[in-house]
Amino acid sequence: MAYETIAVRVEADQVGVITLDRPKQLNALNDLLMNELGAALKAWDADEKIGCMIITGSEKAFAAGADIGAMAKYSFADAYKGDYITRNWETIRAIRKPVIAAVSGFALGGGCELAMMCDFIIAADNARFGQPEIKLGVIPGAGGTQRLPRAVGKSKAMDMALTGRMIDAAEAERIGLVSRVVAYGQLMDEALGAALGIAGLSRIAVMAAKESVNRAFEGTLSDGLMFERRLFHALFATHDQKEGMDAFVNKRPAHFTHQ
Ligand code: CAA
Repeated sequence: MAYETIAVRVEADQVGVITLDRPKQLNALNDLLMNELGAALKAWDADEKIGCMIITGSEKAFAAGADIGAMAKYSFADAYKGDYITRNWETIRAIRKPVIAAVSGFALGGGCELAMMCDFIIAADNARFGQPEIKLGVIPGAGGTQRLPRAVGKSKAMDMALTGRMIDAAEAERIGLVSRVVAYGQLMDEALGAALGIAGLSRIAVMAAKESVNRAFEGTLSDGLMFERRLFHALFATHDQKEGMDAFVNKRPAHFTHQ
């Protein structure tokens, strides 16, 4: 399928890579881009061959936020009635295979929120994260006030949401917003290495792990622990569990068939 605002490619037949591609607007996120992103992710989620996905941008910008030009003139009535601006953004939440954000340059506003919707973030050393919406007279509208405190705690989240200041990659790693920081030249190799590793594992176990970690953000500890235990036990019904454990016991590589 041809897209206008994203470029898509498949690496090693197993990893889907989406490059946000509105360079003149620093990959500002408009309706078309978010629709295309959602369509590409959904297609790969349903594709047996794909085991992991990566979303990335350019060296200068992962994404500089929602498209300010597109929303500048909206009234409350427009935005509310049409559920405008971020209505299509939650598609990413329904994706069951892992999605990695490989972030270089600016990840601001909706760009930071998009990165946080991914399962984890690998950053280049030139990455800058921020929620500058407050400087535009609004607040984050795609989960920033909810996902950021869960990721980094109240004080940092308040600092970022109330001042709009940008943090660099080192600070983002220190506070737990990103999982790894590498030199810009290594970013895609690092993300692809992680994605290929994940794609080679049992898909069923990988999806169960993602579902279970996500549960930690949405319910109580008791519910989360019970959910995890049920999934953990259920995995003993899979062929991949027999294969993975037999391979370990017999000191041989595991060959997962996702059954
Ligand atoms: N929307 C639309 N266009 C944008 C944009 C955005 N979010 N961010 C940058 N651009 C455009 C600029 O208007 C500019 O276009 P022109 O060349 O046509 O003038 C082009 O991208 C390059 O930008 P700059 O000249 O500003 O580049 P810079 O290097 O001087 O600054 C920047 C880079 C610090 C990222 C700056 O562009 C900036 O502050 N951008 C806005 C960031 C922002 O406020 N994001 C939050 C948006 S609101 C939101 O996201 C709501 C939500 O929660 C969903």
